[in-house]
Amino acid sequence: MKAIILAAGHGKRMKSKTHKVLHTIAGKPMLHHVIDTCLEVGINDITVVVGHQGDTVREATPQSVHFVTQSEQLGTGHAVMCAKESIAPDDTVLVLYGDTPLLTSTLLSALSDFQQKNQAHAVVVSTTVSDPQGYGRVIIERDNIFSAIVEQRDLSPEQEAIARINTGTYIFTGRELLYGLEHIGNDNHQNEYYLTDVPAVLQKAGHHCLVYHDTDYQQFLGINSQAQLAEAAVVMKERILHRHLENGVVMIDPSTVYIDWNVSIEPGATLLPGVMLEGNCAIAEGAIIGPYSRLINTTIGVDTMVQNSVLESTKIGDYSQVGPFAYLRPGTVVGNHCRVGDFVELKNATLGDNSKASHLAYVGDTTVGAGVNIGCGVVTVNYDGVNKHRTIIEDNAFVGSNVNLIAPVAVRAGAFVAAGSTITDEVPSEAFAIARQRQTNKEGRAPKRKT
Ligand code: UD1
Ligand code: CA
Repeated sequence: MKAIILAAGHGKRMKSKTHKVLHTIAGKPMLHHVIDTCLEVGINDITVVVGHQGDTVREATPQSVHFVTQSEQLGTGHAVMCAKESIAPDDTVLVLYGDTPLLTSTLLSALSDFQQKNQAHAVVVSTTVSDPQGYGRVIIERDNIFSAIVEQRDLSPEQEAIARINTGTYIFTGRELLYGLEHIGNDNHQNEYYLTDVPAVLQKAGHHCLVYHDTDYQQFLGINSQAQLAEAAVVMKERILHRHLENGVVMIDPSTVYIDWNVSIEPGATLLPGVMLEGNCAIAEGAIIGPYSRLINTTIGVDTMVQNSVLESTKIGDYSQVGPFAYLRPGTVVGNHCRVGDFVELKNATLGDNSKASHLAYVGDTTVGAGVNIGCGVVTVNYDGVNKHRTIIEDNAFVGSNVNLIAPVAVRAGAFVAAGSTITDEVPSEAFAIARQRQTNKEGRAPKRKT
């Protein structure tokens, strides 16, 4: 079985600069959902028809698929025609639209079995929806014998009420598909070559055309607008949540939790309300995330807690605590038994095991060893206006409150930096560094204030 996925349309109804099939659902472009579903059922020979912004789609697609270009969007039938080089007479070809991302692998397998069992030359997948507006309607002769597909704009008033719609999922045998494509015209309201006319042409020529009806209408939602995209995102979100709950992840209010498709969560992890896990996050057993936290491409270790925080491209070890209100930026690696507390920002920084930055600190471009204490208000001054410089704080060092470390600078193992110091030179191992003005008290000189 081969697949041809159509993705050359403008997607004007999305009113967006992003290519229609690159709009994401659960962190993955719609087109990639369709491609991955094919791959899941073992269809590896996939041709994607692109047109408008085709290069953007090619560049954004890591899966190994063939691309063909439809330079002028003359309709879905014409689009398949553009892929005719990849259709051999003896092939069985699955045709899908790039804008129906909720299709399941279960359906594709069942459809393939149905086509083979019945030796059909064309199978059109239909479903029934309460609001068929906008979809092509499938007319059957009887049972599952195909008669016609009539597009919304070509419907007669009596046909408007037909609730059986064309899902845009088809299987054709190669020879018949090529024949059908050569015999369709564009005599319709949009002057387009409709793929939906191919089964009718084949039917007339005496080929075996069937309709496969599936009542799970949700999976066929075609995305033509932002509203439909949002609708599909909700369906996908439910599917993902269900998978994790089944797998033993604890959530007290799943309705407020968003998990991208590729996130892995071990059984026994807890997601509290308001959690978003985006990209390639991995959450270990016993971790508690939330309430209200956003994690992007982040790994969380066993029994670690993250509260009300934002973490991007970071890795946190086991038994650590992050937040509330911490901001961990890309390149941050935190060890085991660490504490990163409120209003602490870490950027491109590593924190060794048992180290703490409990409150109000900025630690950027810094390597922090194990057992280090970073006091309240510590700032690594990493930027001189032109370049970024690194700070090194070695094992068991103590950096007192409100210390500025002017990078590049190093605080060696076991050193102690007194509160309020501005450190510009290396502090040797086990040394005590103090760098602040001595205090003077001027007796009786306090300015008088109105009370
Ligand atoms: C299409 C079907 C309709 C079905 C619905 C299901 C046709 C004529 N109509 O309508 O029966 O109920 O899908 O969602 O097929 N495309 C191209 N090149 C083109 C035109 C379209 O590649 O010249 C691609 C689009 O990028 C899209 C897909 O084909 O991925 C379907 O096109 P779209 O315009 O969305 O068709 P619908 O009006 O939704
Ligand atoms: Ca569509």
